[in-house]
Amino acid sequence: MYTKEEIDSLNIKYADASAQELLQSFMSQYGARLALSSSLSIEDQTLTDMMLRIDPQANIFTLDTGRLFPETYELIDRTNEHYKVKLKVYCPQTEALQQFVATEGINPFYESIEKRHACCEVRKLEPLRRAFRDLDVWVCGLRSAQSVTRSDMRLIEWDERHGLLKINPLIHWTEQQVWDYIKENRVPYNRLHDKGFPSIGCEPCTRAVRRIDDVRAGRWWWESPDHRECGLHVR
Ligand code: ADX
Ligand code: SF4
Repeated sequence: MYTKEEIDSLNIKYADASAQELLQSFMSQYGARLALSSSLSIEDQTLTDMMLRIDPQANIFTLDTGRLFPETYELIDRTNEHYKVKLKVYCPQTEALQQFVATEGINPFYESIEKRHACCEVRKLEPLRRAFRDLDVWVCGLRSAQSVTRSDMRLIEWDERHGLLKINPLIHWTEQQVWDYIKENRVPYNRLHDKGFPSIGCEPCTRAVRRIDDVRAGRWWWESPDHRECGLHVR
């Protein structure tokens, strides 16, 4: 448990550190008790590249909801081959998922926010809690410019719900900075980004957007913008 004052002073301490310096410092302090949760987004691929350069054994996991795009599964393979690693993959619990589908149907998410959250709970949040079991620090690829729900997120936060220190090394980066890093370092990225998908989640809940839309406009597009979080990043 960190107090608000301790979190404030950590934010001051690391305010001018680069993303790599921040990662280096926390990775050396916490070792295997720190992990990146990767959705294979350009931000998470950037952090994956940075972390594996610091430590080839760095702890990185992804949540396979069972509803990801084929291009995302292909990127998991391509990332593993590129870095000679095996990203840890967490899947939903079979019994719980079968029960959910039996009562709610296979595609209940368009019916109501409650059903959408219930699907995210069984496919993402329960596996996330399992992934967190032996962790103290959660590394995320959040950027404050991504959406209204993220504008006041900080570099270092205390995640009350999961009891973890959460670090967002790219919080102040622009989308252009992320792309520059990806291109300069030849980081593998999802082929859907070249087809009008700036932000990619589960296939039924993501669609392509016109470039003038905000980057997360294609996620849960039928809901209002201030609801478009899956519950991973509730504050
Ligand atoms: S979210 O709305 O799906 O949560 P986004 O795709 O923008 O948002 O991801 C934000 C951060 O949440 C990612 O940087 C990653 O840390 C975490 N995250 C989201 N989806 C996954 C996933 N399927 N597996 C692991 N981490 C994820
Ligand atoms: Fe289910 Fe959609 Fe959430 Fe994926 S994003 S877990 S399909 S509601």
